[in-house]
Amino acid sequence: MRMKNPVKRLLATLTQGVYVVGVGQGGLRDAFTASAVMQVSIRPPMLALAVNPANASFPLLVESGVFAVTALRHDQCAIADFFGTHSARDENKLAAVPWHAAPSGAPVLDEGVSFFDCRVVAQHPAGDHVVFLAEMTGGDFLQGHARPLRYDEVGNMDGSDELLPWHLGGQGDGSEEGR
Ligand SMILES: Cc1cc2nc3c(=O)[nH]c(=O)nc-3n(C[C@H](O)[C@H](O)[C@H](O)COP(=O)(O)O)c2cc1C
Repeated sequence: MRMKNPVKRLLATLTQGVYVVGVGQGGLRDAFTASAVMQVSIRPPMLALAVNPANASFPLLVESGVFAVTALRHDQCAIADFFGTHSARDENKLAAVPWHAAPSGAPVLDEGVSFFDCRVVAQHPAGDHVVFLAEMTGGDFLQGHARPLRYDEVGNMDGSDELLPWHLGGQGDGSEEGR
């Protein structure tokens, strides 16, 4: 998928994966696509996750204090699109795919490369998102041999091409990369 915005192309050189983040609280469950996931500590293993407070999943995450990250396979673009462009406000996304509960109770997709079960230990506002810092409490491989999907491979699926500024002072726009 082509990215027109030069700042979007620049940010795409920060290698990120594509994940489905599952949350659950009081019998309600939801899952959404996220690229803003990274490891931030070794001992203990900790992840950071940035979440848009407008997501239907946001209050479930805040109230439960847990989430599960499923790392998507390179061929699961359609899953990324589905969980990233539909909201639990309109439909039960988890009814469309096989999933199971992680030990925390948060939903994990049956299909993917791996999953991480996480417990939130801190949160901090970050622009239009909130960053959650979480300890990894468990996890395992699903199809561990498979190559994970990269964020730059899904192009403008999240619509950020139109939202990011188009100029931040640099000269190049990465267009020679032909994306
Ligand atoms: C490729 C991709 C990456 C995304 N990354 C994030 C992210 O890191 N954080 C976030 O809050 N939303 C992200 N989104 C947007 C949410 O997945 C989207 O708003 C979703 O519809 C929210 O679902 P919900 O309302 O059921 O919570 C991403 C979407 C796509 C397609």
